[in-house]
Amino acid sequence: MSENERWLLSYYRASEINGALFFGRVARTVRGPLLVDVTHHFTDEANHANYWTKCLDDMDLTPVLRTAPTRTSIWRRSACRPTSWRSWRSRRSSRSG
Ligand SMILES: [Fe+2]
Repeated sequence: MSENERWLLSYYRASEINGALFFGRVARTVRGPLLVDVTHHFTDEANHANYWTKCLDDMDLTPVLRTAPTRTSIWRRSACRPTSWRSWRSRRSSRSG
């Protein structure tokens, strides 16, 4: 297996982990009929991460820990949006400094 292929498998793994983290975060906040579906999706994504981890392990490969930002890592960050103007302003000013 080439280093590029190891990186690609690691990227898939990281994407699934980020998906699980995203849906886990949403599952902690959503209420009503969506709760079951969102929690199920969180479980699916965590299982997918497990499959990629087992795949790498079966080939005696360790995952590359730093991959490119995944689509779901970007979603996950946006799911952490502040809930008020004041908190948004304080976050923004702490980043720009
Ligand atoms: Fe997935």
